[in-house]
Amino acid sequence: APIQAPDLGHCHEPVDLRAGTVAVDFTPPPASSPLRVRPAAHLVDISYLTKYERAVSLMKKLPADDPRSFKQQWRVHCAYCDGAYDQVGFPGLEIQIHSCWFFFPWHRMYLYFHERILGKLIGDETFALPFWNWDAPAGMSFPAIYANCRLSSLYDPRRNQAHQPPFPLDLNYNGTDPTIPEDQLIDQNLKIMYRQAKLFMGHPYSAGDQPKPGAGTVEFVPHNTVHNWTGDPRQPNGEDMGMFYSAARDPVFFAHHGNVDRMWYIRRGLFPRDTDFADPDWLDASFLFYDEEARLVRVRVRDSLDEAALRRPRDPPVRRPAPAAG
Ligand code: C2O
Repeated sequence: APIQAPDLGHCHEPVDLRAGTVAVDFTPPPASSPLRVRPAAHLVDISYLTKYERAVSLMKKLPADDPRSFKQQWRVHCAYCDGAYDQVGFPGLEIQIHSCWFFFPWHRMYLYFHERILGKLIGDETFALPFWNWDAPAGMSFPAIYANCRLSSLYDPRRNQAHQPPFPLDLNYNGTDPTIPEDQLIDQNLKIMYRQAKLFMGHPYSAGDQPKPGAGTVEFVPHNTVHNWTGDPRQPNGEDMGMFYSAARDPVFFAHHGNVDRMWYIRRGLFPRDTDFADPDWLDASFLFYDEEARLVRVRVRDSLDEAALRRPRDPPVRRPAPAAG
């Protein structure tokens, strides 16, 4: 059976996403609503940056108990990765959305709501998060918009100070910086991206299963490695980005996952058979999020699959194969 949305009335420390709110089932936005086109973080212009900084700063100023506040937003991630909720019907068995086949869909919907809340705060229905384009040479360093200035809402002091732009990103980071020349490192990064295209989604995880059955390739590398590369080695657990509970406290989390999501989007467009499961334990698994109106929404994995319905454009460089006739 599919994993069910958690019961918010029963949670363990450290996160309480508020009990007692009744969830509504997800409905996609009106088909007439504008597309949200995510820009590469290294290519945005000043007018985009000003908007984005303003949106995040408004989110940070919301009262801490508003589910749309930055604080509640990062705690949503924490709640689904640090054992805050047990599986309904399986006391003592945590809900965990990493190292399994929910990695892509869960994070897609997390960004979906986060993006809409930011857009709502600045009254811009077209607002879209940037993505950290680490699969392309021009994006293989920490995105400068997050590191520009300590006063920016996008800044986070808990980052690896040795890895600030333009220091080259190592997609295979294991705790030690490589000493090879930058062009060789970029070449190595590109080979990693190519290799990780196999075993993409992660292992099945159904109701009653132990958490973390196994991650897909992209979740291990470069997803985990980029988290670790970004987090601050002076902190006890590599906070913020280097640890699940604190990762989404760094605004760059959302650009990192913008690109993780883009990898799924592209992969699915090319090889839908590797990425789509017909199993209802995948399609009907459900999770809870708060939307831009602070309503609690129950989302199923199947809701995350129709990108057009979520008002996401097709990724320009990749065409989906035409559907087979008949
Ligand atoms: Cu939920 Cu990048 O982790």
